[in-house]
Order: sequence, then C-alpha cells, then structure tokens
Amino acid sequence: MAIKRYQKPSALDLFCGSGAVSLGLKQAGFEVVGAVDLDVGACTTYRANHPEVKLVEKDIREVSAGDFDDVIPGKLDLLVVCAPCQPFSSQNRYKKDNDARSNLVEQSKKFIIHFEPSIVFLENVPGLASTDIFSNFSEWLGRAGYEVAKPMRIDASELGVAQRRIRMILIAVKGVSLEKASNIARIGKKTVGQLIRDLPTPPIGRNAAREDPLHYSRRHSLLNIERLSHIPVNGGSRQSLPPHLQLTCHKNSRRSSFSDTYGRMSWDDISPTLTTGCTDITKGRYAHPVQNRAITLREAARLQSFPDNYVFFGNASQVAMQIGNAVPPEMMRSIATSLKAAIQT
Ligand SMILES: C[S@@+](CC[C@H](N)C(=O)[O-])C[C@H]1O[C@@H](n2cnc3c(N)ncnc32)[C@H](O)[C@@H]1O
Repeated sequence: MAIKRYQKPSALDLFCGSGAVSLGLKQAGFEVVGAVDLDVGACTTYRANHPEVKLVEKDIREVSAGDFDDVIPGKLDLLVVCAPCQPFSSQNRYKKDNDARSNLVEQSKKFIIHFEPSIVFLENVPGLASTDIFSNFSEWLGRAGYEVAKPMRIDASELGVAQRRIRMILIAVKGVSLEKASNIARIGKKTVGQLIRDLPTPPIGRNAAREDPLHYSRRHSLLNIERLSHIPVNGGSRQSLPPHLQLTCHKNSRRSSFSDTYGRMSWDDISPTLTTGCTDITKGRYAHPVQNRAITLREAARLQSFPDNYVFFGNASQVAMQIGNAVPPEMMRSIATSLKAAIQT
C-alpha cells in the first residue's frame, strides 16, 4: 500500500458534518486527510467542498481506524472530535442517558489508540463537561499518556465570529506543548451589520433565488408578517406583540427559554447562537434587523462565517441543519492556528 506524505500537519475530522471544521483547519494550514460522518446531505456538501479528503460516509461505530491507514503517514498530528451535541444541550428535552448518541465520544478512542495523534481536540456544548462521559474520557486520555487541559469555555464571538456561541473545548497533547496549543488568540468582535448588511433584499421562495441559491426569504403567513411589523427594529421579541397577536401557548410562559422568539437581530450586535432552526422566527431571535422576515440561509451561513463560495446541498431544512450544526470555520481557524503552532515547535 502506498503511504501518502504531507508537507503540512495532518488532521482527521471525526463527525465532520458539512465540513466547517475541515475548512477552518485548512485555512490554518492543516492537511485534512480523512473525515467521518453518516449524514447523506452533509456528506454531499462535504465532498463538494473538500473533494481531496478521504470521507468515510458511515456510522462511526462501523468504521475502523485502519480504514485510514492509506491516507495517514504513520503519525497523525491532530484528531478532531465534534460528536453530536444534542444529548448534552441545555435545550434538549430528553435525558442524555436515554440518547444513544451520548456514547459517540467514546468512538474516538479507537482512532487515538491506532494513530496516537499529537493532539486530540474535542468541541461540544458546555453541558458535556459535567457528565461522566467527559470525566471518564479525560481520565482515559491521561492513562493513555496524554497531558489533558482543563475544559475551556470559549465564545465564538471572541474569535472573529459575529455570533454568541459558547462552546466547551478540550485539548489533550502528547509530545507537544499544551501551553502553546491552548494559547488561542482572541480577535475583536464582529457585528451582524458587518456580515450581512450588504446583501440585497431577498426574493420570496426558493425558486425565486436566481442570483444566490441560499438567499431567499421563507414564505411567512400574513399573520406572522403582521406580528413582525410590531417588533421594533434591531430587537424586540414576542413580548413586544399586542395581546391579540400573542400566541396562546406564549401567553402564560413569558419566562420560558423561548422568550426571544419573533425577536430581531441587531445590526450593531452579535447574533444569538444559530441552531438548526436558525431561519425560523418561532425558534429564536432569528428575524432580520429591519425587514419583516426571518434571516435567509445565506445570512445564516455568513453569520456562521462560511464564505459565499462554500456550496451546500440538500433541501432548506437540511441546509439549515448543516449550517446550524457547524463549528464556525473562523472559530476553528483561530483555534487551529494555536494547535498548529504547538505541532511545529
Ligand atoms: C455537531 S455535528 C458536527 C459538525 C461538524 N464538525 C461541522 O463543523 O460542520 C455532529 C455530526 O455528527 C454526525 N453523526 C451523528 N451520529 C453519527 C454516527 N453514529 N456516526 C458518524 N457521524 C455521526 C452528524 O451527522 C453530524 O454531522
């Protein structure tokens, strides 16, 4: 078997989704040599943007680390583990113990044993840090000879992304400096206006989006358009609605976690965390700062720091899922810059 050799540090991207992490890694100077995900839509997007990467489109439980022997030259520099975060998300209504996805972090162990990467990088929602899954995994890394940093809370808005997206990251190293790898440079905040203000008013409906397939407005009901007309520019929420336009389900739950619904983003602020429902005004503060509509998929992609030439495949909800699930590429680029500095010294 011919073994490939790389000029740049190598990375393997587990749970790669549509490839946002891979994009950030490449921007920071990594060679992404392999990736794993099982979602058909996300994998189609991944392949279109990263055709040179060996993508194994399978349930990770059925993937063997040896499947990447042909693309990993003996030593792997970086293993990225972005397992699904829903089981640990504060918005998840289901108990994590009942969610089969909870143990997917464990799946990374076979890759760590097989390739002994210099750095293991894990990203997830902060809720993961207080679980047994996380402490068992950290302890296991320690026993496997890794120096393990304390879990770090980091907001994407500190790393050049126009979005509040608080994440937990874990860095573990073997044979390289943990201090250097964890020395992530903070970048000044960007605002919603800086990212999306220049976009033209979008047409309504996907078929009308001729210039840019992602830049079209959802078809809102007349009632929702009327509701939006009562929401003050750059803010507000469902609590700004006159009583006759309030939803019955909201009337008695003013302090629910969905208090931001129907709210607008603000030109001069960062956006809220974009979820897979990020183009739905009933799922959060996802209305445009001044127009009576939800943000478009293009606006969501930009707020997640995807460049406009990144192509997405799938229907509207599949693309919203790919965008909402992504680690913002710019966040990953910033983090990967310090990981790479540690590897190269
Ligand atoms: C949080 S998302 C990862 C996002 C990705 N790193 C990015 O930046 O776009 C989690 C991913 O795990 C994938 N996934 C869930 N269960 C899986 C499994 N059993 N095997 C492989 N991938 C899985 C999902 O399809 C999803 O794309």
